[in-house]
Amino acid sequence: MCGIVGYIGEHQASDILLDGLKKLEYRGYDSAGVAVRNDENKISVVKTKGRIKFLKAKIEEGHGLFGTSGIGHTRWATHGEPSEDNAHPHASDDFNVVAVHNGIIENYDELKAKLIRKGYSFYSDTDTEIAVKLIDYYYKKYLHTPCDAISKAMVRIRGSYALAVMFKDYPEEIWVARKDSPIVLGEKDGEVYMASDVTAILSHTKDVYYLDNMELARMKRGSIAFFNIDGDEIFKETQKIAWEAEAAEKGGYPHFMLKEIHEEPRAVKDTLSSLLKENEISLERLGISDEDLKSISSITVIGCGSAYHVGVSAQYVFEDMARIPTRVELASEYRYRNAPLDKNGLVVVISQSGETADSLAALRKAKAEGIKTLGIVNVVGSTIAREADYVIQTIAGPEIAVATTKAYSAQLICCYALALKLAKVRNSIDEEKYVSLIAELKDLPSKIEEILSEEEDIKKLASEIRNAKDIFFIGREIDYATSLEGSLKMKEISYIHSEAYAAGELKHGTISLIEKGTPVVGILTQSNVYEKTISNLIETKTRGAHIICVVSEDKEKANTIADDLISIPNTAEYFMTSLAIIPLQLLSYYVSVQLGLNVDKPRNLAKSVTVE
Ligand code: F6R
Repeated sequence: MCGIVGYIGEHQASDILLDGLKKLEYRGYDSAGVAVRNDENKISVVKTKGRIKFLKAKIEEGHGLFGTSGIGHTRWATHGEPSEDNAHPHASDDFNVVAVHNGIIENYDELKAKLIRKGYSFYSDTDTEIAVKLIDYYYKKYLHTPCDAISKAMVRIRGSYALAVMFKDYPEEIWVARKDSPIVLGEKDGEVYMASDVTAILSHTKDVYYLDNMELARMKRGSIAFFNIDGDEIFKETQKIAWEAEAAEKGGYPHFMLKEIHEEPRAVKDTLSSLLKENEISLERLGISDEDLKSISSITVIGCGSAYHVGVSAQYVFEDMARIPTRVELASEYRYRNAPLDKNGLVVVISQSGETADSLAALRKAKAEGIKTLGIVNVVGSTIAREADYVIQTIAGPEIAVATTKAYSAQLICCYALALKLAKVRNSIDEEKYVSLIAELKDLPSKIEEILSEEEDIKKLASEIRNAKDIFFIGREIDYATSLEGSLKMKEISYIHSEAYAAGELKHGTISLIEKGTPVVGILTQSNVYEKTISNLIETKTRGAHIICVVSEDKEKANTIADDLISIPNTAEYFMTSLAIIPLQLLSYYVSVQLGLNVDKPRNLAKSVTVE
């Protein structure tokens, strides 16, 4: 979704802003722009539809943008089509106020009508132009101070926003404000940086401040000051970011997605190590005591997209291993549904970015009901990480490809560790089983490596199915959960229609879609339902399907029906998703590459979905 950068210092701002915007490209966008203030206090705005490279070219065509302070933006259209007029920055007609904005202003109609009554007119279809002109209105009406003008606008605006604002009368300052849309700021050697995402400023500084809701910040050369909505100055501590700037580079791989798939053994290992102490799952240092775990009466796992699929897999493990009733909920449904909630339950919100609007809203709903919340989050300092009662951090490093791979794998590990800990304290497994399952978890990274070494076979398989019209993924129980994720990976980056089905559901409708040659991927890792899924695969084969089996131990029957067989190592059945998903990620990757598509930035998608 949209990205924001800002800079004030001694260097040319446009270079730093463009570099920051390039680092935010992965979030998904359709237009971009920058505003730079020169030495004569003139603010120039350059915007384009399309890629950052077009913006750069346009700046160069205009003989450069000179000045040492500015703001920049990548826009993912919400209000108004992708166009140059709708691209940010937006400005008041006299350039008194120039700003960029992430988020959505819900009461834009009402605010626009008010501003029209006050004599304002509008050149774009965006809600951001309304915010800019509202700030301009309050600035002129009241005290002529940026802090007051922005605060007054914040009180009137409903919705979510991260705003970066320049005022003509305050050449030494950039102002920033936030509600429900992240902003991170940092200072190094007198230079001050700001962005909506830490990866954009990581190469400049690793000591950052996070702006909280309804707070403002003033950036000046060499200093950052923070204010609450009443305009009182507040003080914040910096947080150290452990990520290396190089982790957000491709490192020799043709795409971030392939690099991130190859980082999965490391992400799984590091995440597991962070949860182990002397071979025991240790959650105490996260503030989660054994007593807390014993008293939980149910678990609700909440997420969106792949994070939700982690929950579907985890549900089987929590219920079978730890004997805790578990529900999995889509965050966008949970947040609005008026279901009776279990006050003694634990709500687990899974999110790579920690900023997904629906997941955050679901977390807040649970908290408001007095239910304990646990966030499983990759981005340190993200809103979900800061607002959840407990946090398990996935140690996957920055994930840049829009389609998640390594964060998904790391999230699975957190759920497995939580299930094991719950099972141990609630005595639903014995010591021997507990020890053996931990040993299985520790072996996962080397087994993932083993699968990655078969990459060439998957590449060949991709060439067999890349022209398919539809691809189905089927499985039962945990294999169904894996199917959901395998199918999502395939459709989001290959644009081939794909669906995942609980294998037993095929006969209730879907089987009519099977035609001669339709690829059906059967996941076969769960012994108690192996034969059942085989029967379902045979039913599709009889109707002409091209059968691809992903199989671990028991290959005999699969061998007799499969047109293609993907063999993976064995582990405890609880953890099979961690292995079965790897070839499916590679398969989608190679189908997308062979179709010549934009693997890392599929059309219409954004990495972090910060609006509803
Ligand atoms: C799919 C994918 C998305 C995300 C979803 C949630 O490959 O990446 O489905 O899983 O948008 O995002 P987070 O985990 O940031 O809350």
